[in-house]
Amino acid sequence: MKHPVMVAIDTAERERAETLLHALGKPHDTTLKIGMELYDCYGRELVREWVAAGYTIFLDLKLHDIPNTVYRTAKQLAKLGISYTTVHALGGSAMIEAAKAGLIAGTPLNHPVPKLLAVTELTSMSPGSLAHEQNCRLPMAAQVLHLARLAQSAGADGVICSPLEVATLKAALGPNFLYVTPGIRPTGHAQDDQNRTATPAAAKAAGSSAIVVGRPITLASNPRAAYDAIKKEFN
Ligand code: C5P
Repeated sequence: MKHPVMVAIDTAERERAETLLHALGKPHDTTLKIGMELYDCYGRELVREWVAAGYTIFLDLKLHDIPNTVYRTAKQLAKLGISYTTVHALGGSAMIEAAKAGLIAGTPLNHPVPKLLAVTELTSMSPGSLAHEQNCRLPMAAQVLHLARLAQSAGADGVICSPLEVATLKAALGPNFLYVTPGIRPTGHAQDDQNRTATPAAAKAAGSSAIVVGRPITLASNPRAAYDAIKKEFN
């Protein structure tokens, strides 16, 4: 994947986001992940602006609704020039198919269709909450594989999973599917609210196609140095 260290710009403050972008450097070499917080505050205008500036944009809104609503929303998102977007695999195969169809329908002529990534189990989800809150009888690895398989057969281009699960998924689903992994924590960094984490080097060794990194870069005293160190470790 292009620029496989994706930086999650999780903030509600536009100025702070711009300062971070400035620190990261070249737009044409950078993938930014815009999540719910930033999108909720600044919406389509901001996405269009950053696409126009040359950034590769991963718009991570984790859609999870009935197929018709997801189709219509995905169609609107595809008009923005983004490269990646997400749905929850738990929304089911009809919903994932609808998301893909919406992206295809909304993409302007002669433009690439944004890649559809399906979130398996959130990296903040522990085996305990999987068992007791989701009432899922499968172990985490088996549940993640089940959802990833569902996503692949419904037409998703890849999955979001923990780096701890990539090797198993890749062995089962092949190298032509994308394995994007958040839950990245450089050695010595706090876990925060993440549960199933790994270092950039471990994610690479496991076979991650790309990693998503937020706080270890955005809250670093020197975000540029943190970004460069993580890129070096991953590449
Ligand atoms: O700050 P941190 O590195 O934990 O940020 C991880 C980012 O990846 C957040 O923006 C979060 O929304 C996203 N994410 C995640 N786990 C998933 C899917 C997305 O942490 N399963």
